[in-house]
Amino acid sequence: MKDTKVWKIEQTTSATDLAIREASALLEQNEVVAFPTETVYGLGANAKEADAVDKIFRAKGRPSDNPLIVHIADRVQVDDYVAEVPEVAEKLLAAFTPGPLTLILKSNGTIADNVTAGLPSVGVRIPDHPVAQALLRACRLPLAAPSANKSGRPSPTTADHVYEDLQGRIAGLLDGGPTGVGVESTVVDCTGEMPIILRPGGITREQLEEVVGRIMVDPALAAANGKLPENGDVEKPRAPGMKYTHYAPDAPLWLVDGAPSFMQTQIDAQLQAGDKIGIIASKELAAELDADNINICGSRNNLSEVAAHLYDALRSFKKSDVDIILCETFPETGVGQAIMNRLHKAATKKINQF
Ligand code: TXA
Ligand code: MG
Repeated sequence: MKDTKVWKIEQTTSATDLAIREASALLEQNEVVAFPTETVYGLGANAKEADAVDKIFRAKGRPSDNPLIVHIADRVQVDDYVAEVPEVAEKLLAAFTPGPLTLILKSNGTIADNVTAGLPSVGVRIPDHPVAQALLRACRLPLAAPSANKSGRPSPTTADHVYEDLQGRIAGLLDGGPTGVGVESTVVDCTGEMPIILRPGGITREQLEEVVGRIMVDPALAAANGKLPENGDVEKPRAPGMKYTHYAPDAPLWLVDGAPSFMQTQIDAQLQAGDKIGIIASKELAAELDADNINICGSRNNLSEVAAHLYDALRSFKKSDVDIILCETFPETGVGQAIMNRLHKAATKKINQF
């Protein structure tokens, strides 16, 4: 493919309007365009055209059995693509959209088959980002959009991340600066009796429960975090995407769960062994460590800050510079559930003190 056209979006100026119009025109021609959302950058294409959607899978190298989320501008458009909106979904839409939430609902068949990977359900999301909203309103199309990274890599939270992975493979990239939330939307399956969290994300379990009462979590997620015995009857994740290797940094990532002195012991052991190491840590842990090459990803007392910097931290270490990345673990409350879900999936090894 020819070069990727990059538009820099500063404010709502006439240049911005032009960029949105050009990006929108490319989408109408069935090309793929990356754009910022409040969670991560998405790679969008017309969700009604299988040929356009196919370009997303090719650009990312994404397995075709992993369905895509459909992005729309507002609640009214949900009805265009789903067979029904159950009461619980209605409550969630009212409380959290636009925002970092994706609802799995029964499809009415209008969306191209390769978006849903042949499933009878469809994921819908109303993003809360001015550029995403402007683009959706300009093109008047439902946009199928996975995260705009090469399949398997950490999701992109800046336009540079997208460019690094997909330059020359996509028609356009709207650069709206760093995204805010930093981890993807929470995926909630509303097709059954009870809503089920298929992927923890920007809206926390606690927030969801305030609106709909107790909510189930896909048992396969706990298994992936090493909390269930791997005795053979561990369940298959219900969100097809959750079974793939994901968020992998350039070098092997080791999750270190323990006191600062335990992390220090791991660091010293690897240095002794002659490894070059990179460290991802909170500022609290970093202050306790005697080490170089620390990427400080925020405060343990502000997990939103950690979420916002997590993928940039994972991308910051290159295998040409480090042999191993050692990373702290975080409390699994609030957005910490999404952070730890991603870190468990990114890690090649877990070392626990207790
Ligand atoms: O924040 C986000 O959700 C970002 C931004 C760009 O909107 N998008 C994103 O898309 O993370 P993606 O494709 O990287 O992740 C979509 C997840 C996958 O785990 C996929 O398997 C699941 O949602 N999913 C999509 N449609 C589904 C369906 N019909 N049933 C079950 N899971 C579904
Ligand atoms: Mg993704």
